[in-house]
Amino acid sequence: MRIGVIGGGLMGSGIAEVCARAGVDVTVVEADDAAAERAQARVEKSLDRGARSGKLTGEQREAAAERLAYTSMLDDIAGADAAIEAIIENETAKRELFQRLDAVLPEAEFLASNTSSVPIMKLGAGTSKPERVLGLHFFNPVPVLPLVEVVRSIMTGDEALERARSFAQHTLGKICIDSQDRAGFVVNALLIPYVLSAIRMYESGFASKEDIDEGMVKGCAHPMGPLALADLIGLDTLLAVSESLYDEFRDPASVAPALLNRMVEAGLLGRKSGRGFYDYSEK
Ligand code: 3HC
Repeated sequence: MRIGVIGGGLMGSGIAEVCARAGVDVTVVEADDAAAERAQARVEKSLDRGARSGKLTGEQREAAAERLAYTSMLDDIAGADAAIEAIIENETAKRELFQRLDAVLPEAEFLASNTSSVPIMKLGAGTSKPERVLGLHFFNPVPVLPLVEVVRSIMTGDEALERARSFAQHTLGKICIDSQDRAGFVVNALLIPYVLSAIRMYESGFASKEDIDEGMVKGCAHPMGPLALADLIGLDTLLAVSESLYDEFRDPASVAPALLNRMVEAGLLGRKSGRGFYDYSEK
């Protein structure tokens, strides 16, 4: 099987890695050559980590690396069996990309988006076959977290949906849950208001960031506290998801706190920029 992964950032590189580790040939498409090189470096670093921790043998690591190609030309995925989009959370950019994917991959079994905030229906609507457009929503870090949300729009067909589910479940070995095409799907609709309320708690001086995080790790056995998690997700992504939740449900719990807006404006995006609620520059 051959798959195109569009976008090689935090999520796209993780998706490309798990596909290659599962024996799938992958072409990662980035905006330009420099971004394609950065995507390759990201995947290779994570494969090295897998090899170091004993999850991959040296041979498996090399075999996975050889299944991956990196390019800045979308046409290079022509003939692929399916595509997964993981570009920036911007509706216009995603809609345009799906129109181009529709033209480049007329025979593909499914065109999936890893979006956390754009309705799948909006992505399918601009294509000639909205029945093959659906959501496959992975979780960060993709090589570690087993869940994929399978999202059906009101136009998604049974065949594409079952093919995509089987790919995630049987080829990639992920655990799938179904979600309606609603903002946040299942997990983010629950998770994001919680993270936003932690930011509000910190912003108001109710508790320190360290105590908020320690409280949820030690008191509720979460693997990390909500502010550390915000940094892992990326504050720009967190903001995009909160805006889409608020647009859809008008629930005040999904309103972005002013501090989150200011941090995104300042470029403090969390781990990926080196600083968010915590400083990662030395790590
Ligand atoms: N890539 C590959 N492997 C990774 C990794 C990465 N980026 N990060 C961690 N790992 C592996 C490590 O190699 C290690 O494997 P090992 O046990 O075989 O050695 C294992 O994961 C544990 O890692 P660490 O010991 O370094 O660190 P922790 O035990 O503290 O775990 C964590 C780190 C996996 C990030 C854990 O804290 C965690 O699961 N946190 C919660 C993450 C979460 O909730 N994600 C969902 C975010 S929401 C989302 O993605 C949706 C989006 O739409 C917003």
